[in-house]
Amino acid sequence: MPLPSSVTVHAPATIANVGCGFDVLGLCLTAPYDTITLRRCEQPGLTITHLDDYHLPTDPTHNVAGAALLALLREVPETLGFEVEITKGIRPGSGIGSSAASAAGAVVAANALLGNRFDNKQLIDMAMYGEAVASGVRHADNIAPAICGGFTLVRAVQPVLDVVALPAPALWVAVVHPQFEVKTKEARAVLPTQVPLSLAVRQWANVGGLVAGFLTQDFELIGRALDDYIVEPARAALLPGLGDAKKRALAAGALGGGISGSGPSIFMLNKDEATAHAAAEAMGAVYQKMGIAFHLHVGPIATQGARVVNF
Ligand code: HSE
Repeated sequence: MPLPSSVTVHAPATIANVGCGFDVLGLCLTAPYDTITLRRCEQPGLTITHLDDYHLPTDPTHNVAGAALLALLREVPETLGFEVEITKGIRPGSGIGSSAASAAGAVVAANALLGNRFDNKQLIDMAMYGEAVASGVRHADNIAPAICGGFTLVRAVQPVLDVVALPAPALWVAVVHPQFEVKTKEARAVLPTQVPLSLAVRQWANVGGLVAGFLTQDFELIGRALDDYIVEPARAALLPGLGDAKKRALAAGALGGGISGSGPSIFMLNKDEATAHAAAEAMGAVYQKMGIAFHLHVGPIATQGARVVNF
């Protein structure tokens, strides 16, 4: 069958860190998502158009999808280029993996146009160049679930990328996205450079507990293990309403949660859909009271990451 000349991909939002797993854990949502269309051209280079109102850069070296595609093109022997159209369904600076979605969606689309010659690990490696444009760091905790779906552990980025894709339990995610922006670079600048051993012990106990809870579908263990003793306390000052929103969501029955990625979104994991809606409403009520506009997202953990929706 001849290869398609054009493809459209939906690239979903993701939750990085998942509480205790700073820069290593991530999970995939079903919505919102970016829509990315790629057309293959025989002449080299990238032309990027944004069909949204976010005024993101279209110079490929400064665009997250562009940087990821340039990394992919370096691995392709033939001369070719792409016309890229991006519609951001995920607001930049939201904390639910906006930059990762565009980078991941772009390389998944290019791979489909090239007959799927790259595996997920290679695609994650390329898409991380997009994250470097967005935050200055090649981290994969959003990229890995955006490509693999489900729940992922990035065991190492250096010297060799090592990503473990784990099955997603049947949990429901509630997200509140208060409408103010927290830049990942700034949210990383407030982090401690050294951590007391006693805190590190508590943190890696939770990471182990959370992964075990996901694998054994032990929802109570997941709830106990979500706590982040290191990163969330340092970032809390950037996120008005965080403590209250968490308290209200727990009272509504959520298992646990915390800052989504570098914020400002807050996520909560829940046993079922009804509880997830109740947790989302409870968090929204906090921002309503504060006079801060917000969006709510409720959905299951997605088993599939960025996917081709039409050729
Ligand atoms: N792990 C990253 C952070 C995710 O928390 O800074 C943000 O993209």
